[in-house]
Amino acid sequence: MTTTTGTPSPADLITDDWRLHGSIYTSPAIFAAEQEALFHGPWLYVAHESELREDGDYKTTYAGTQPVIVVRGADDGEIRVLLNRCRHRGSAVCHDERGNANYFRCPYHGWTYKNSGELRGITYDDAYPELDRDQLGLVRLPRVESFAGFVFASFAAAGPSLEEYLGNAGRYLRIVSEQGPDGIRLSAGSHKLAYRGNWKLQVENTIDNYHFGFVHRSFLDVLADRIGEAPPIMQNVLKNPEWRTIDLGNGHSVHEFGDPETGNNQGQLGDLPFNLIIFPNLCFVGAQLRHILPKAADATEVRLYPILHEGDSDADNAAILRAHEGFYGPAGMGGADDIEVAFDRVGDGLKAVEEDWLVMSRGLHREQPGENGTVVGRASDEVPQRAFYRQWRRLMAEEAA
Ligand code: FES
Ligand SMILES: [Fe+2]
Repeated sequence: MTTTTGTPSPADLITDDWRLHGSIYTSPAIFAAEQEALFHGPWLYVAHESELREDGDYKTTYAGTQPVIVVRGADDGEIRVLLNRCRHRGSAVCHDERGNANYFRCPYHGWTYKNSGELRGITYDDAYPELDRDQLGLVRLPRVESFAGFVFASFAAAGPSLEEYLGNAGRYLRIVSEQGPDGIRLSAGSHKLAYRGNWKLQVENTIDNYHFGFVHRSFLDVLADRIGEAPPIMQNVLKNPEWRTIDLGNGHSVHEFGDPETGNNQGQLGDLPFNLIIFPNLCFVGAQLRHILPKAADATEVRLYPILHEGDSDADNAAILRAHEGFYGPAGMGGADDIEVAFDRVGDGLKAVEEDWLVMSRGLHREQPGENGTVVGRASDEVPQRAFYRQWRRLMAEEAA
C-alpha cells in the first residue's frame, strides 16, 4: 500500500481483513469529519447527576470540541446543556469547572445570561436600539436525557432515544451507578491529563488487555515482589475463559473479568468487574469514569473522575482516591506509562507514513456471536477496537454520503 493524498473515503480506511489506515489518527480533515459524524448528532456524555444536585449547580465541559455548560436551572431544576460562548463576540462566559450560579456574566463586556440561557442584561445598552434579545440567549443543545444518573446531550433535534442508543451497554451503566450502597458520586472532581496524539488512542487503550504485560511490566514486577509470586493478570488475560471482551453494538464494548451481576471482580484491577466503553468518548476503568476530549487530530485532553460510593465511609472513599493516585496519578505506577507508550510514542511513530497501515485483526477468527446481537472474543483480542471502528466507519460513511 502507498500513502494516500487528500482524504480517502471512510470505507477505504479500514480493510475487510481489519487493517486501519494511519491517517485515521493523523489527518486534520478526518478529525473535522469526525466532529460532524460522531460528535454532532449521536448522544454525548456530559455529566453525572451527582455533579448537579442543587438548583443552579453547573459544570463546564465539552461536547466534541465545543465548550458547553451543563447546568441545573435555578428556577425549574431542569438540566440544560448550553454552548459556552457569548452571543456578543464569542468569549466563553463561564470559566470555572464547577460551581453554583443564577447568572453567567461574560468577562469581556459584561453581558449577562440567566443560568437557563436567556440573555438578561446588556451593558450600556442604548447603543443597540434594534437588537432582539430574545434571539440572543446562550445556544441550547436540543436534547438532554439521563440514564442511571448519567447525563447525555445531542446536537440533533431528533433521533433514537438515549436508552435505544445505549442498547446492550445500558445494563453495565446501571451496574456502575449501583456501586455504592446509595449509588455513586463524582464529588472528587477530575484529574486531567493531556497528550500529543489522537483521542481514539485513549479509547482503544481503555480495553486493551494485550498491552498490560508489556507497558505495565514495572507495575507487575512491584506487585510480584509484594505478593511473592507473579500476579495472575496476564494468565487470566490469555487463558481465563471468564475474562472476555464483547462488542455490545452501536460502538460500545466491554471487558468482563468478573461477574457483572454480583460485582465480584476477583480482586482484580479495581472496583468494577468490567471495563466499559460507551461510544464515542466515555469509558469506565477500575473505579474511574474517563471522559476523553478531542482537541485536534494530534491533541487530546482526558478527564479522569474517581467514582466515589454514596453511603460508604469517608475512609473507604479515601481509599478509592489513594488507589486511583497509585496507578493513574502523575507519580503513579501505570498511567504515565500509557501516556508515554500508547499515546505519545504512537503519535510519533505514526509520522512514518511510507507504509501507513496498522493491524487490528487480533482474534478476528475466533469472534463468536453472543446474546442480543453481541460479538464475543477473548480478553486479549481486539474485539473492543473493532466494535468502535464498525460504528466509526458506519457514521463516517453516512456523513460522507
Ligand atoms: S464577548 Fe461577551 S460581552 Fe462581549
Ligand atoms: Fe495501560
